[in-house]
Amino acid sequence: MFDLSSASNATVKIDLVDDVIPTSATKASRVKRETLFNRFRDRLIHNPSLDRTLVSFQANKQTPFYGWFKYREGFSRQLVQYLLKELMPQPGVLLDPFAGAGSALFAANELGWETQGFEVLPVGIYAMQARLAVERIDVKAFQEAVAQILFVDFAEHYDEQFAFKHIAITSGAYSQAEERQLIGYIVFCKRHVSNLDIQHLLLYAAFCILEDISYTRKDGQYLRWDARSGRAQGKKSFNKGYIFSFREAISNKLNQMVNDLIVQPNQRSLSQEDIIEQASRPTPIISTGSCLKLLPTIPDNSVNFVLTSPPYANRYDYTRTYALELVYLGYGNEEVKQLRQDMLSCTVENRDKRTQLHEYYTQIGRDANFRRIEEVFNHQEALQEVLSILDTYRDTGVLNNSNIPRLVRNYFYEMCFVIHELARLLQPGGIIAMVNDNVRYAGEEVPVDLILSDMAEKFGLTARYIWTLGRGKGNSSQQMGNHGRTELRKCVYIWEK
Ligand SMILES: C[S@@+](CC[C@H](N)C(=O)[O-])C[C@H]1O[C@@H](n2cnc3c(N)ncnc32)[C@H](O)[C@@H]1O
Repeated sequence: MFDLSSASNATVKIDLVDDVIPTSATKASRVKRETLFNRFRDRLIHNPSLDRTLVSFQANKQTPFYGWFKYREGFSRQLVQYLLKELMPQPGVLLDPFAGAGSALFAANELGWETQGFEVLPVGIYAMQARLAVERIDVKAFQEAVAQILFVDFAEHYDEQFAFKHIAITSGAYSQAEERQLIGYIVFCKRHVSNLDIQHLLLYAAFCILEDISYTRKDGQYLRWDARSGRAQGKKSFNKGYIFSFREAISNKLNQMVNDLIVQPNQRSLSQEDIIEQASRPTPIISTGSCLKLLPTIPDNSVNFVLTSPPYANRYDYTRTYALELVYLGYGNEEVKQLRQDMLSCTVENRDKRTQLHEYYTQIGRDANFRRIEEVFNHQEALQEVLSILDTYRDTGVLNNSNIPRLVRNYFYEMCFVIHELARLLQPGGIIAMVNDNVRYAGEEVPVDLILSDMAEKFGLTARYIWTLGRGKGNSSQQMGNHGRTELRKCVYIWEK
């Protein structure tokens, strides 16, 4: 069993799936899940145009702008453009309620779509604001600012007043000398760069290299600590390889940005003929906050396309993974904890949001909607089957964390609200494309794709396809030993109104 509260100073890697296998006494019924599978069987289609690279951030690495900040949970610009061209070539209004670093918003916008996004994590908001600054910036002035700043002795500008207020899981992440340089750079930008867009981009460059100059590596749910940090190590000491000095890393990043900004438009895109000139595109609208609160504010039948990827039900903790970036943005311990609770439930620490949601729906006069959403949630039989099995596993000590059933329950409960709202705000003929992974706990597969698609149909949508990707997620060796090699599906769901 792993105690999350002790994660702060450890080099911990925990499997995304639980590895305690139930005995035959606890082996459970799969009847409801099989029935659901059979209902969707013909719509589960392997799409050879989609692969893991395209669906993940990987494909963005070489793409100007998109590759500046490694937002690992992001999907690629190519995926966005593939889906739009394939499913709705005529631009309209696009919404991404889990906007992340904004791939959907900006890639769709390049094709002439009016786009709007919601994001609760300040990391994604900061990245999207930087992207907006790019659209406004005078490239030559930025180039000059970069040329100047690279001659500055950053340590000379260090000012205690701007020092980071570290939280337990980031303290000691940089060497003292490098942290001084980093703070000096921030102070210089804030005091000596008056154009706010240029200042934002210079500060964003530092934000993008925090992992590179630190003793940490983002690794699943946690920051992994290099032995050189002096932090206690797990059984196996970890070496992340080369650690960049601040000066090296910032020079590389700024040069990358300048190069990307000065390339001609025809080199920026793989599909130049489709790209709408920047001046004639509507600026993406970005709202900060939880989509659980923001979605109900969108009028009925007002969106043509929803392209999104929610967090997966896999215990991945964004607030720990992006702790360096949150501290950089000035977030402290309590604020980070609050953010964790505000996010869609996907960690074992998330508490349920039922009371909040009930109050909110009552306050906006949508009590009937609230009741209907709960009814759909409570009557999703495959989900209830999984939940009751997970409850039993918890009670019999099979799960390695007793909060897993709560995580899975809350995940679907909240997604039920999201899907209800998406079905309401979509125009007839509109399409939702959602990227998500199935998960497994203690050997029990949770068919996230089928359960969410069934909820979508209960709210009046049609699940046209569940496109599966070539290679699903791997299994832990123990699971493979006990259950044979079964792949967890990674899918793009296509729902239509
Ligand atoms: C899989 S990522 C999406 C990445 C995005 N497609 C991109 O390309 O960058 C899921 C995102 O949902 C955000 N998120 C989690 N809970 C949320 C909520 N309640 N409201 C809005 N965004 C949320 C997370 O912070 C994360 O950025």
